Amino acid sequence: MSLIVRTIVKKRDGGELSEGEIRDFVAGVTNRTVTDEQAAALLMAICCRGMTTAETAALTFAMMNSGETWDLSPHGFVADKHSTGGVGDKSTLVLAPLLAACGVKTGMMSGRGLGHTGGTLDKLEAIPGFVTGQSKEAFDRLVEKVGCALIAATDTVAPADRRLYALRDVTGTVESIPLITASILSKKLATGAHAVVFDVKTGNGAFMQKPEDAHTLGRALVDTTRATGRKASGYVTAMDRPVGIAVGNANEVEESIRLLRGDGPADLRENVLLLGADLLLAAGVADTEKEARRRLNASLQDGTALEAFARVIAEQGGNPAVCDDLALLPQPAAKHEVKAAAAGTVRRVATRELGLLSIEIGCGRARKEDVVDPASGFRVFRKTGETVAAGEPLLVVELGPRTQLPKGYLERVAACFEIGEGAGAEPALPFVVEKL
Ligand code: URA
Repeated sequence: MSLIVRTIVKKRDGGELSEGEIRDFVAGVTNRTVTDEQAAALLMAICCRGMTTAETAALTFAMMNSGETWDLSPHGFVADKHSTGGVGDKSTLVLAPLLAACGVKTGMMSGRGLGHTGGTLDKLEAIPGFVTGQSKEAFDRLVEKVGCALIAATDTVAPADRRLYALRDVTGTVESIPLITASILSKKLATGAHAVVFDVKTGNGAFMQKPEDAHTLGRALVDTTRATGRKASGYVTAMDRPVGIAVGNANEVEESIRLLRGDGPADLRENVLLLGADLLLAAGVADTEKEARRRLNASLQDGTALEAFARVIAEQGGNPAVCDDLALLPQPAAKHEVKAAAAGTVRRVATRELGLLSIEIGCGRARKEDVVDPASGFRVFRKTGETVAAGEPLLVVELGPRTQLPKGYLERVAACFEIGEGAGAEPALPFVVEKL
């Protein structure tokens, strides 16, 4: 029996893999001596049998070391954040320039939409001219000159994850906490930040729908990052309703710019302050959470965060004038209101379904080759716990110039809102479900 088959059989039968067995597997994935079938079999065995904390850490480090590992120490202290994503989650767009304005450098490598969730890269690319595909040299220049870089993953970072992720996508092995932990952290740790804050979403619009699963993933992310000697903190936050009002790409950039101007929805502001305060504390820029929040709020109000965003846009090839003139962002060609049929309280928003419906109008891709229509999206006016009068808009569908309204679409959007009788109620989840 070959080494890899022995490893597969051991995990299939519930055994604990050694660091060496995990390292050999990842090396074989990277140099392609392990076949797709063998890799998929081990992934399925891990998915069914799970992994111990030590196995998860070994897998993370082996995957991290499958490619380049970046040393950011020439830049001084560099921070990063990771969100597990959801619908309307645009915190990176605000947080990166806001931290730069507060004197904390960030280097963020973001992804595209995955499943029903939006992707930071698609949002950034809604800004005319913005280039997310940047080299390591450009990344270094951006971190040094602007104080933040907003780039796409390069081919050189964690190549084992790229192959394993593609296999997981087609073998029903995405939803495994050890595999998700290793996938996220192999990339995060390889890019060398000195402190990371994690935002693990939970609720019906999150990958981890149950708070207990979000807790387990969050603990694994924070503890494994700390085990590397870096600072880490995290939160489980609500994704049983979209974050903010805008869902899409250009409209999420617009909402982010509004917050950078000191305006913008309260839940998005709270999300950004929560994560940002941890990183200001980690960087030693503030001594208390109160002081950190005061500094962050001041930068949102005095225009310095917005100036930092304009600088990063300009440095990455985009038109910084969007910060002053929101009409320069891609605009919808048509709008359709979805109104409440009767008065009542919103009991539930089917957030995952809303995300999937947004993909249908071009906010993301159902297939890899699909093209995003940056001007398409939603404005969500009512969320869980809020009251609505009969005939009031729950949501507005915005269609970009390349997009037609799909058949029966407005009825399907309306069905995402469960409205009950009676007065307002608390949302099912508080915004901050848990500090990890
Ligand atoms: N994001 C990742 O990078 N990997 C996963 O497995 C899930 C989300």
